Formats: sequence, C-alpha cells, structure tokens
Amino acid sequence: MEDLDPTFIQAPEHRSESNFIPNQPDEIPVIDLSRLDDPKDVQNVISEIGDACEKWGFFQVINHGVPCDERKRVEETVKTFFDLPMEEKIKVKRDEVNPVGYHDGEHTKNVRDWKEVFDVYFKDPMVIPSSTDPEDEGLRVVYNKWPQFPSDFRAACEDYARHAEKLAFKLLELISLSLGLPKERFHDYFKEQMSFFRINRYPPCPRPDLALGVGHHKDADVISLLAQDEVGGLQVSRRSDGVWFPIRPVPNALVINMGNCMEVWTNDKYWSAEHRVVVNTTRERYSIPFFLMPSHDVEVKPLEELVSPENPPRYKGYKWGKFYVSRNRSDFRKLEIQNIQIDDFKLAT
Ligand code: OGA
Ligand code: NI
Repeated sequence: MEDLDPTFIQAPEHRSESNFIPNQPDEIPVIDLSRLDDPKDVQNVISEIGDACEKWGFFQVINHGVPCDERKRVEETVKTFFDLPMEEKIKVKRDEVNPVGYHDGEHTKNVRDWKEVFDVYFKDPMVIPSSTDPEDEGLRVVYNKWPQFPSDFRAACEDYARHAEKLAFKLLELISLSLGLPKERFHDYFKEQMSFFRINRYPPCPRPDLALGVGHHKDADVISLLAQDEVGGLQVSRRSDGVWFPIRPVPNALVINMGNCMEVWTNDKYWSAEHRVVVNTTRERYSIPFFLMPSHDVEVKPLEELVSPENPPRYKGYKWGKFYVSRNRSDFRKLEIQNIQIDDFKLAT
C-alpha cells in the first residue's frame, strides 16, 4: 500500500465509499436541447429543466451548441501545458493578488484535492472587491495569466469560453421561464460578470479510498456548465436523502448544476447540490467547468416574486463580490476554521 500525504486524507464520513450505493438506476435527466427547435416541445423542455433543478439541482444537456471540437482543443492544449516541468507551470501560478492561472494546492473544506487546475476569467480584465472587509468598498482589477507555451493555449480557452457563456445565458433564460418569470429576469445581474472557467486534471491516485479529486462542496455561483471526458468520477448527493449518485459521462454532453446564488434567488425551490469527484488508480481525468457568476456589486437575496407571507425569505442578502473573495481564501491553504458557506446566511424560519 502506497503512502499518501496526510493533507489529502478525507474524514471517514466523506470518503468515496461512504453513503454510496453502487449500481443505482440512473435517474439524473439528460435533456436534448435540439427539442427547442420544435415550438410544440419548448414548454416540455422548460418543465423538465425545472423539475431537474428542484429534485437534483443537476441535469445534463446534449445538442447544446458548444462545439465538441472546441472542448477537445482546450483539453489537448492544456494537457501539453500540464505535462510541462513544474518550474514552467509555476511561472503562471495563481496567487492571492491574481487568483487565476495554474494551481495544484486547492483545499475544499480544508482537505487538499487530488488535482491540478488552470483558471481563466471570462472577462479580462475583471473587477473584484479588493478585500474581504465588508466596510471596505475598494475594488481592484485582475488579469488572466497565460503561459507562453503552448502558443495556442489562450485562443483555445477564449474560443471555448465564448461558446460556454452563450449557452449559460440560454440556460438561464430557460430556468427563468421555468420559475414563471420573464426570460431575461436575471440578465441585469451580469453587467460586470465575474464568471470564470477552470480546467481540472485529476491524475491517477494510489489511494482513491482515502483521497478525493474534489471534496464534497456546493458551487458558489449561479449555474455551472461542466464538460467531462469519458473516465467518470463526478458524483452528486441526492436531495431527498443525501445518497451519492454518479453522473454518468454521456458523449458530448454538458453537466449543468445550480450554484448557491440560484438556490438563494429561488428561496430554496431550486437546489444547489453537494457534489464531489472520486479518483481512481489508473486513469487521469479531465473536466472543464464554466462558472456563471454575477457582478461584484449584486446583492444576492431571495427574489421578491418568489417569496410571500407563506414562503418568507430563508436567507438574508449578501454582496456577491465579498462572498466570493472570502470563499476564495481557503483555496490556497488549510484554514483552522471552516470557510464562509451559504448556510451562514440562512434565516431561522
Ligand atoms: C468543481 C467541480 C467536478 C468535476 O470544479 O467545482 O465540482 O467533475 N468539478 O471536475
Ligand atoms: Ni463543483
């Protein structure tokens, strides 16, 4: 048995075998977006999306319009980069000033993840709060970091991100309609969007029983759109009972999940599910999530249209930018306490 650096070891209740029932019937919906071309089917697609957001907080889409060769191009270019010697990779290492670029020491819930990542802002430059202090209104401008080699890296990432962002807004419109709201209800929240996308590489791991590629977490964003290769490993915790289910790789599909903002806006109607990534001893895995995020100054709180005396707000509002920079602090090192989480904003109901 190979030794594993103790920083990677999950608590027993969070390991890959806990609360996982193998060979469950596959229930997470796969929705074909080409059905939107048939006016008679549009309402069905919208209700299927709404049901999936409520029950799972997760679904997959096919025929979504993001070209699969753009995804393959990112994957191949990034693989060339990840295979470079560490002294090359750390030239574009993420730091506390510009929290994008290369990184291999991310901690989720204070346990180190078995992965290396490269992060790219969708808007370059991007505006974020300069500190986590709620009283400090200062802002700063942050920039992407690009490696010199491979030379196609930047173009491949930017082309992919453009397509992913377009799909993100289309999905946001469908989600808005599924809530009985106008199609563009959410659009104003994204004038200075803080969206970014990430390329994850999960190397083979000697102890997949002890470590995870990403520990259990909820995404902080609005919605995430994730491309995964055929290896598999992503799991979602079922809303009704917390049992872990695999998200089966479907060729050329994208996995869509609700983040904390959507959960708060809908006052818990839609579910931001916990998810995690299990690793394996033989195959490396790639995934590319695009995280759709509002502007730094947006106050995230339950939408007025979705609350009532019978359904009072379950969250107090929070400033998106501040939440995000506070949450990000733990990505660099192990903190002594659990980092800020959405439940910190829950109201007693
Ligand atoms: C994430 C995440 C899942 C995956 O990066 O937030 O949940 O399959 N990734 O890589
Ligand atoms: Ni995630």
